[in-house]
Amino acid sequence: RTVYLNGDYLPEDEAKVSIFDRGFVMADAIYEVTSVLGGKLIDFGGHMARLKRSMDALDMQNPLSDDEFLTAHRELVTRNGIEDGLIYLQVTRGNPGDRDFAYPPADTAPTVVMFTQSKPGLADNPAAKQGIRVISTEDLRWGRRDIKTVQLLYPSMAKMEAKAKGADDAWLVEDGRVTEGTSNNAYIVKGGTIITRELSHDILHGITRAAVLRFAKEAQMKVEERAFTIDEAKDADEAFVTSASAFVMPVVEIDGVSVGQGTPGPAATRLREIYLDESR
Ligand code: PDD
Repeated sequence: RTVYLNGDYLPEDEAKVSIFDRGFVMADAIYEVTSVLGGKLIDFGGHMARLKRSMDALDMQNPLSDDEFLTAHRELVTRNGIEDGLIYLQVTRGNPGDRDFAYPPADTAPTVVMFTQSKPGLADNPAAKQGIRVISTEDLRWGRRDIKTVQLLYPSMAKMEAKAKGADDAWLVEDGRVTEGTSNNAYIVKGGTIITRELSHDILHGITRAAVLRFAKEAQMKVEERAFTIDEAKDADEAFVTSASAFVMPVVEIDGVSVGQGTPGPAATRLREIYLDESR
């Protein structure tokens, strides 16, 4: 596989980053994941806008222009022959030399890494036909989940808890209400209304979420942006999650309780179709 590191395209085993890099020792780094379908980048503009938002929130300087990021993404798709898959992009505050809690001087060069993950048939994921099962667990992440940092240990722990319980993923709960999934935004559907938590510092502002809500409104579906409880979710007609890698993924079970009929619901199924049609 060919990867990108600081302007160079290299074989993956030649791409090396310093052990002093702040991404490594401080998780002082942000990332984006963009999907590729049929060789085409999905929602690239949205991911670039959020990348800048994350960098602004952390006083990180933007190392490349949108055009340069786009060129690098396209180059990796071509060089690795990606039909369907994901492109991972990470920017760290670079290598200051010594470990220090204070940010290094602003002229410290950031580290920019990009790599591809090939996922043939990504849009035909069989899980979308069956739906996934989630558990609920406490949301113990930090208070700025709107910044897409690489501090992903707690979501990893929650995912492992889900797997240990025979489920696929976890929904995180704070003050009795669902924030989001480990790596996706969470929704329920009740009486024809799509309900998903409103944007704030408590959740990541999903790029797929923005697109799906726009398509839902265009299709005259009712949308309510507010928090909901796990009990309300268990009692809903449908549930689903969205992300760049899962698109729209139905949720059919929460904490062992079937949601609706226990099969992917009509709203989730329709939104998945619309999203895939419109973004390709
Ligand atoms: N995760 N919420 C969290 C906590 C996420 O990590 C993600 C994305 C989302 C959905 O955002 P988007 O629609 O922009 O992908 C919501 C990516 C896919 C990941 O970490 O792999």
